[in-house]
Amino acid sequence: MNKDELSNDLLPFTTNDSLEPIKILDLIEINLKHILNSPELQSFIQIVKGDLYNRDYLSAFNSDEKRFAYVARWTPARALSYSSLFSSLKPIKALLQEPIQIKNVLCIGGGAGSELIGLSSVFCRLKEYNSSSSSEIHINIIDIANWSTVINHFTKYIKENWLYHGEKLSTNFICDDILITNTDLQLNNLDLITILFTTNELFTEKRKETIKLLQKLNDNCKSGTLLLIAESAGSYSHIIIGERKFPIQFLIDTILVGKPNENNGVWEIVNSSESCWYRINQKEVEYSMKLENMRFFYRLYRKK
Ligand SMILES: C[S@@+](CC[C@H](N)C(=O)[O-])C[C@H]1O[C@@H](n2cnc3c(N)ncnc32)[C@H](O)[C@@H]1O
Repeated sequence: MNKDELSNDLLPFTTNDSLEPIKILDLIEINLKHILNSPELQSFIQIVKGDLYNRDYLSAFNSDEKRFAYVARWTPARALSYSSLFSSLKPIKALLQEPIQIKNVLCIGGGAGSELIGLSSVFCRLKEYNSSSSSEIHINIIDIANWSTVINHFTKYIKENWLYHGEKLSTNFICDDILITNTDLQLNNLDLITILFTTNELFTEKRKETIKLLQKLNDNCKSGTLLLIAESAGSYSHIIIGERKFPIQFLIDTILVGKPNENNGVWEIVNSSESCWYRINQKEVEYSMKLENMRFFYRLYRKK
């Protein structure tokens, strides 16, 4: 592990380059007021928990009640940690800070809104220092479950409350299976792709197609594109190649970066952590439910 990795094993609760955690939680509390007050919320959270435990990912998000329960329970801590992560990873912060260009982002499996909130928190904070700059961010979110209501509500709130010029941020929600979609995702025009807490699901659903998706990124993304993959630390499933068992993360690295020590792939790893903590400072924030600390694995790749 190099020095850079070590310093990324503990993310700050908040940074100067992202909005205050309290503003992030306000967004969620205000937009989910009715859900958070619903007497049925806890029972739906239990159903989603059970589906996720059984790795039955498709049924975990197959109704509005379950999707809203997921957002109420899991999105807040995720959004806080992504806000800290995006502002702590220098290449991502630099991308969001650049004052002139239009940035195109694709969030795979980002329907529950955590990536949207995390990206917006950093983009909007950095924009405050230079609000008349021409830079814009277009966030494309593709998800197999229909999260359009959640994304539309969060986008509207962000444009109206976090930005001086709301038109500088836009989102496009695509309800489709990333592994078989015919939608033109304009991979050659993307500056950043995120696959956060979603690779396990993709590999569980369709292993061959998931490998093909990574190969598609190899073939189509432009040089300089950033790709961020994160997953619960230690949660990766294993694959068997020949007689040996490997973590899926090994397979992902081999496809993207090349064989170990040869680095003959088309991506390079620019930042990573095998186990990174994000701890909630409970004294600084309040939320209707307990906000849990997070521990995850991540890799930030850059296309050569
Ligand atoms: C565990 S959730 C993670 C949500 C979000 N990325 C986060 O970090 O909070 C996984 C997401 O991936 C989506 N998903 C699963 N399989 C998918 C597929 N084949 N195509 C697109 N989205 C998929 C699910 O619907 C769900 O929204």
